[in-house]
Amino acid sequence: MFDVMQVARQLKSAVLADPERFYSNETGAWVAGLPRPQEIRVVTGREPFWINLGYWRDVERVDETNCERVGDLFKAAQAQMAHLLARTARLSERDVVLDCGFGYADQDILWAEEYRPARIVGINVTPNQVRVGKERVKLTGLEDRVRLEVGSATQIPFGDGEFDVVFALESAMHFRTRGDFLREAFRVLRPGGRLVMADMCQKTDRESGAGLRRRLRHRYWRGRIAFPEANVWTTQRYLTELNIAGFHQGKLESIASDVYPAVNTALAALRGMTAAEREPGSVTVAKVREDVRRARQMEFEQLQWLTLFNCDEYAVVSAEKP
Ligand SMILES: C[S@@+](CC[C@H](N)C(=O)[O-])C[C@H]1O[C@@H](n2cnc3c(N)ncnc32)[C@H](O)[C@@H]1O
Repeated sequence: MFDVMQVARQLKSAVLADPERFYSNETGAWVAGLPRPQEIRVVTGREPFWINLGYWRDVERVDETNCERVGDLFKAAQAQMAHLLARTARLSERDVVLDCGFGYADQDILWAEEYRPARIVGINVTPNQVRVGKERVKLTGLEDRVRLEVGSATQIPFGDGEFDVVFALESAMHFRTRGDFLREAFRVLRPGGRLVMADMCQKTDRESGAGLRRRLRHRYWRGRIAFPEANVWTTQRYLTELNIAGFHQGKLESIASDVYPAVNTALAALRGMTAAEREPGSVTVAKVREDVRRARQMEFEQLQWLTLFNCDEYAVVSAEKP
């Protein structure tokens, strides 16, 4: 039956484009198989709760033969995204790091343990994620090197020049605005400091030529995932904004082909396997394999990041403060 209240809630989310609201109530409902906020149970602190799309270049891709293992493959790809950013930043033991938008802190635990920077400070606007992150940091014995708090990347609660590296792993598309974040990141970096991000944008302008109906549709769906219109940038605009903020050596390295198609297939598998697990008998593994096969055959232009959000680029963004 047509649920007026649900439609009203969805419209409100689209208009507010509020990441805290999105990450407190709606993730998981959106991406079946990703943890819903109320399902997070911390036991050892090491159970992974990543919420990025994954970097799949060196990870076994999901297909009809391995879809039962989608959970593990997805998490491996998500961890690879954190490794990619660490390598891009040349993260070392000397570095004091600011991490903006850390989810449930998987990346901070990984960086602290595997790259051993001097200190990591994380800020995040979603209080429940900060609470879970802190609990995990305590359980993993990293409290002396990782500090997490509620705060916004657009009003960074630290002084000028305090950090060697600023990270934003698949979070900057939410910041209101990404431009404000670039200025703040520049301020809190020391001269020679590095900004490294994983982020979505458009290879070239996909908006201006579109008709009103299509523009409204993209605006609605972007709002639903808390992606404000002010952040709809092309690669060229991104480079210009890095420059305006004062950064040098701005670069966007495309990894779109190692992100979007593979995660699209993974999500098809995850949806099916999660449904089979939550309601046994509702979906057969044969049906999941069929969905996965269909997902693998999709053209790039059919993927949801293009059809809903109009983003065809996923890039590792890097720049230095002179
Ligand atoms: C797609 S999730 C990525 C989480 C994490 N990086 C990961 O890979 O698992 C985006 C994150 O950005 C955070 N976020 C959104 N807007 C923010 C802001 N203005 N300041 C700090 N964090 C923000 C959200 O709460 C969420 O944790």
